[in-house]
Amino acid sequence: MTVKITLFVSDTAEEVARGAADDASEVIRTDKRAAVMFAVGESPTGLYAELADRRRSGTLDTSRIRAVQLDEYLGVAAEDERSFYGWLRREALDPLGIPLERTTALHGDAPDAVAECARYERAVKEGGGIDVAILGIGTNGHLGFNEPPSDATAPTRVVQLADETIESNARYWGGRERVPTRGITAGMRVILAARRIVVVVTGPLKSEILHRALEDEVTADLPASWLRTVPNVRVYCDRAAWDG
Ligand code: F6R
Repeated sequence: MTVKITLFVSDTAEEVARGAADDASEVIRTDKRAAVMFAVGESPTGLYAELADRRRSGTLDTSRIRAVQLDEYLGVAAEDERSFYGWLRREALDPLGIPLERTTALHGDAPDAVAECARYERAVKEGGGIDVAILGIGTNGHLGFNEPPSDATAPTRVVQLADETIESNARYWGGRERVPTRGITAGMRVILAARRIVVVVTGPLKSEILHRALEDEVTADLPASWLRTVPNVRVYCDRAAWDG
């Protein structure tokens, strides 16, 4: 079954950030203890900055919201500044005042990664699930580190990163040979169960994958296409991403 995705096309990346921030803010205002899943990357950076501005100006109360990490490199500790947790702390969690105690983290350096995946899924479930997931889409159509092929039911697990993912993350590691080749990702089943999903897509490089995700066949080969099978997905993109 496919459902309708709400699509917002804005002229600029700034408008995208504001629109997506309005959406996430609505969830946070409705539930002060909302569980928010945070993606790493360029796509949501403006949105996080916008939320932080609203917090600073006193129009958004984030003092009780809870964070859920989306993915992490395998073998990389939270304290490592190149970890996804480190990135999130700098770009979103600290600016929003969310400490580790209010975060369901994915510990990339856990001694037993399989047990860590099970612990994470349990923690998300016991926390009442995810109220809003903030996501980007990889140029290969991945969501989190759910690389193609990933089914809608894929659990939280250790994954081999796709070459394209390693390539695009080389900027954070000073060269592709330094990028870890494996990660831990929230499973598709965790992401797709979020009560609202806000996807941010900007820039011409994302145009082809955005159209494929929205218009082509729904398939494991394009994990982002599963977004069309769940309700309450809102895609915020700029004209560059839409027009190509
Ligand atoms: C990040 C993540 C990835 C990114 C995607 C887009 O936690 O899981 O799926 O959302 O690779 O990355 P950017 O936004 O940097 O283009």
